[in-house]
Amino acid sequence: MVSHPILDKISQRMQQLNNDGLLRKRKLSNDYDYDKPNIIDFSHNDYLGLASANEMVDALTQGAKIYGVGSKASPLVSGYSQAHLQLEQSLCELTGHEAGLLFCSGFSANQALIKTLFDANDVVIADKLIHASIIDGVRDSGAVFKRFKHNDLDHAEQLLERYPNSAVITESVFSMDGDKAPLKPLQLLCQQHNSLLVVDDAHGFGVIPTQTDGKFCDIQVVTFGKALGCQGAAILGPKAVIDFMVAQSRQYIYSTALSPASAYLALAAVKLTQEQPQRLAALNANIAEFRQACGKNNIELTDSTTAIQPVLIGDSNKTVLIASKLFDLGFAVGAIRPPTVPAGQARLRITINAQHSKHDIAELVGALATLI
Ligand SMILES: Cc1ncc(COP(=O)(O)O)c(C=O)c1O
Repeated sequence: MVSHPILDKISQRMQQLNNDGLLRKRKLSNDYDYDKPNIIDFSHNDYLGLASANEMVDALTQGAKIYGVGSKASPLVSGYSQAHLQLEQSLCELTGHEAGLLFCSGFSANQALIKTLFDANDVVIADKLIHASIIDGVRDSGAVFKRFKHNDLDHAEQLLERYPNSAVITESVFSMDGDKAPLKPLQLLCQQHNSLLVVDDAHGFGVIPTQTDGKFCDIQVVTFGKALGCQGAAILGPKAVIDFMVAQSRQYIYSTALSPASAYLALAAVKLTQEQPQRLAALNANIAEFRQACGKNNIELTDSTTAIQPVLIGDSNKTVLIASKLFDLGFAVGAIRPPTVPAGQARLRITINAQHSKHDIAELVGALATLI
């Protein structure tokens, strides 16, 4: 390889990451071969088991037959189809928002929303554990960025008192901790301080009721790659915001639209979450089963009541080692390290889904008990 200062720099950085147990590598899912009967997957976000449901496979095939497989252009040119419109309308009906806008991923929806909506004259107040896509969006926007301690309403209020007319951003269910944000009180605080509440609902949509007594926020970002088992995302909110995004969002304007077949598929997934409540019931029963089994085996858990059940280990290398031993025993779990989580808080990210059996859960907990 040619010698170049940039190549030298990245080589040193990679060495450092490796030494610190923080080097990330891809693995072909065939290596994992999750379909092998002896590997039980507790690492993905397909909480309801929709990713491989027959109805979903049929919907994707049907969507492709109607619309073809690609959108062929940016939404503003000719990439915006009836399938996109129907999905946006259906999401609005479900959540009570006025309008919606589709993106190819939650990351780009979040980043586009924040960077387009805010500028250097605005103040954005976000939970300390907010997702990387939001952080990147705020940085790109140039807005003044203030953070409140995780789920700390008093701290959020102090910041809102200091910076009224701002925007507060949180997640509905935190991706690495599984705990929920106090959305109702946050909404109230925002109303009292004339501020917008923006919620990244990536891990809540489809598994946590979206509308209990009216909208819980001004702008909601839902993703299709988690509980809906497919791909893509939508920003839902006031029509004025969506129209502004259409007119100004560089990610939206200068990028090929989500494929119509994917939009058709996501619409089928939304319908399935409504028509097959047994999936959510099975998920919730499995979460309770896992927590109970951990309790009996003295495995310490957090207060999370969602599908995301972290087991805190602390040290990064130890976390990777335990995850790898679990894999050898037949269980795939996430090994989450800084900077995804704060230093010293590496953890196993165990995700429960509707398709796990009681036996799967008992076996995993038994293996965990021997390793931590
Ligand atoms: C909280 C949160 N927001 C947004 C995203 C991005 O969504 P997507 O996977 O659709 O890009 C993720 C995915 O990891 C997430 O955990």
